Amino acid sequence: MLKGKSLLEPMDFTVDELESIFALADRIIASPADYMHKCEGKLLATLFYEPSTRTRFSFEAAMLRLGGQVIGFSEPNSSSVAKGESIADTTRTVACYCDIAVMRHPKEGAPRVAANSTSMPVINAGDGGHQHPTQTLTDLLTIRRKKGYIGDMTVGLCGDLKFGRTVHSLIKALSRYEGIKFVLISPDELKIPDYVRKGVLIKNNIPFVEVTDIKEALGGLDVLYMTRVQRERFFNEEDYIRLKDCYILDAEKMKLAKEDMMVLHPLPRVNEIAVEVDDDPRALYFEQAKNGMYVRMALIMSLLGIEG
Ligand code: NCD
Repeated sequence: MLKGKSLLEPMDFTVDELESIFALADRIIASPADYMHKCEGKLLATLFYEPSTRTRFSFEAAMLRLGGQVIGFSEPNSSSVAKGESIADTTRTVACYCDIAVMRHPKEGAPRVAANSTSMPVINAGDGGHQHPTQTLTDLLTIRRKKGYIGDMTVGLCGDLKFGRTVHSLIKALSRYEGIKFVLISPDELKIPDYVRKGVLIKNNIPFVEVTDIKEALGGLDVLYMTRVQRERFFNEEDYIRLKDCYILDAEKMKLAKEDMMVLHPLPRVNEIAVEVDDDPRALYFEQAKNGMYVRMALIMSLLGIEG
């Protein structure tokens, strides 16, 4: 039962609980009109302390498509945050008005502080360079819908593996499925942090290799997860400029990949995928963005305890 729970990191839900969310998302995709009134009378708060397009819009669209309503801020300076209010106080206040809240924050752990201050379900929509569990739901649903199940595949993650929270969450979540191998493609400066390498991969005996050359890796991949170099997390601009275009996936490189390799990207992209790849049937990132709305509909219903 997911009713009343918060989603702060990918391991908060069991594989079976995730499966129930994906199955509900499938039913919503098959028949969205049946879900138009499911959340009538319910209110979602969006507390965004950091920029967002897809995550905030997809949550808002999800709640509105369920017949619920949304209030919130995308610019914390327009709320009492600007007066110095704590996260705990803001959340307790929001819980007086709303049924469920979504929070994005530049500081690691902020959504957990919010969740601990209320009994209202809180969803982590990205906390600093740490985790982004609802992007992971989106990624997993996309793989599951394409492949039929999650497992038995070599997943390449490419780009900023150090600061990319979507990467950290996806590796954690995939570590519980059978037959997953990882190829971690990044420059030395942007390698996966130890809490994931040691704390997840080595600890669970999951096969992985770390490489710097994308071309060398491409032919063996079933999924390629591209990521943006996370400019906002760099301490100096020079390093960012030096590393920002370290990998660019283009039509030429796609020739090296399997015919059914899935190309995923959490978006926004900067230069890491050339626009010419968008027409390749293996490019799934916009479909992935769409799945994000459906899986968030399923998540909201589940946390509110609404049957579907
Ligand atoms: C990601 C994020 O915010 O971490 N975006 C998203 O939510 N789809 C990826 C990114 O910003 O690079």
